[in-house]
Amino acid sequence: MQQKEDNLKDVISHAKEYGFVFPSSEIYDGLSATYDYGQLGAELKNNIKSYWWKSMVQMHENIVGIDAAIFMHPTTWKASGHVDAFNDPLIDNKDSKKRYRADVLIEEHMEKYNQKIEKDVAKGKKRFGDDFDEVQFLATNPNVLRNKAKIDDIRERMRVVMEADDMEGIYTLIMDLGIVCPISGTKNWTEVRQFNLMFSTELGSVAGDASKIYLRPETAQGIFVNYLNVQKTGRMKIPFGIAQIGKAFRNEIVARQFIFRMREFEQMEMQFFVRPGEEMKWYEYWKEARMKWHQALGLGEENYRFHDHIKLAHYANAAADIEFNFPMGFKELEGIHSRTDFDLKQHEAHSTKKLQYFDPELNESYVPYVVETSIGLDRMFLAVLSTSYKMEDLEDGKQRAVLSLPPALAPYKVAVMPLLRRDGLPEKAREVLDLLKYDFNCSYDEKDAAGKRYRRQDAIGTPYCIMIDHQTLEDNTVTIRDRDTMGQERVAIDELNTIIGKKVSMKALLKG
Ligand code: GAP
Repeated sequence: MQQKEDNLKDVISHAKEYGFVFPSSEIYDGLSATYDYGQLGAELKNNIKSYWWKSMVQMHENIVGIDAAIFMHPTTWKASGHVDAFNDPLIDNKDSKKRYRADVLIEEHMEKYNQKIEKDVAKGKKRFGDDFDEVQFLATNPNVLRNKAKIDDIRERMRVVMEADDMEGIYTLIMDLGIVCPISGTKNWTEVRQFNLMFSTELGSVAGDASKIYLRPETAQGIFVNYLNVQKTGRMKIPFGIAQIGKAFRNEIVARQFIFRMREFEQMEMQFFVRPGEEMKWYEYWKEARMKWHQALGLGEENYRFHDHIKLAHYANAAADIEFNFPMGFKELEGIHSRTDFDLKQHEAHSTKKLQYFDPELNESYVPYVVETSIGLDRMFLAVLSTSYKMEDLEDGKQRAVLSLPPALAPYKVAVMPLLRRDGLPEKAREVLDLLKYDFNCSYDEKDAAGKRYRRQDAIGTPYCIMIDHQTLEDNTVTIRDRDTMGQERVAIDELNTIIGKKVSMKALLKG
């Protein structure tokens, strides 16, 4: 675990050093849990968006994309339940004056037992080597079984109190488990209170409740309120989906772990409208489809797992997370939720507008059910960046930092370099750049020795470097260097588009 936490620190400093992610308004010492994407971060983020948009919208005849406003009529949030129920249970430690999410404190306590199990497994592996049978060990070792039983017991107690919104019960559980404040080390806790996560502001110049509006805490409601507009103007037939990518805002109590949990973040959401009664079929379909989308990236199948929700959100009848093995351990990356007809029915009731669909096959009208896929773009960025970042030992005893990004997501696809800054090599390199720049995002680099330039491109994840040398002037060939193998090949300039295109195209990812 310590090694993984160190990995997060390394990723954060690498992200800053190479222009991927900066602390927001850093010249004023930053703003907590707020980050800016730099020149390479913006490219990587755009490529992730493009992979999602292409896969979800452009590869599906029955899914279209919209871009709704962040500000929405305030009744939207009353109808959606966010005004009354979008809360986190919050607890303060009276000694450290620090505020925590009560459920997170309990989850972290459970994680300690998980870590004990991991330690026991590691010890077993060390002691028995190749003879170690992990499955057997996990099923029979008394220490492991004791710790598993503790986790199960806490999880069940937590499920009961969370489902009942029982603040006193959550407090009792924290006290029973003897959870102490990580800062003060004491159990001097306040009672547990509900805390609404929505940011509010005033519309226009008049303050007061009448003009209070919210920054949207999810992009989904922009889709629900446009359901009828899109269905009618797009002549959409059920089942169909509406997707969008956009900012969302939540006044998170515990905002930390870099870009994992922020107060301003971006979501990529899709609402899939289906016949009532068919929602579980589509829920299973989207769980599988979304997992395939992730695994096509090649970040390692073992880094993903499903996790069914303990406490269902106020709108859901089934929900699962796709969890990713982040540097902080397995955490939620994406949610797939069966939202029933809750949202559309609520908007019908509050707006008094009919939000129904006439199904010509059934010859009847109904309010569609909805299956949602919802992924945090920033979390996806962290998943890609942290898994791709590596320090590699080289044969000459030196080390290189390399970002083995999926080539289709890399900010630059290719770096074009003249070997020397004379003899007509820069001019020839610019000719090559002009050939490639319409198809690929290219970097041009002529400063420093070749080795140093290769290292720079490795560190930002550029899949290919092309070197223009004296031979290029004679026979129009160049060397092309592969980021991952560091192997170099001599090829004709005419072949470059095909070679690079094959490796960096999104087509292979989209085909799955
Ligand atoms: N419309 C459903 C919805 O918003 P959610 O599980 O609350 O569901 C969906 O959020 C996704 O948004 C999460 O899986 C996560 O990737 C991302 N997300 C949520 N809160 C976030 C935060 N504070 N910072 C970064 N990403 C966040």
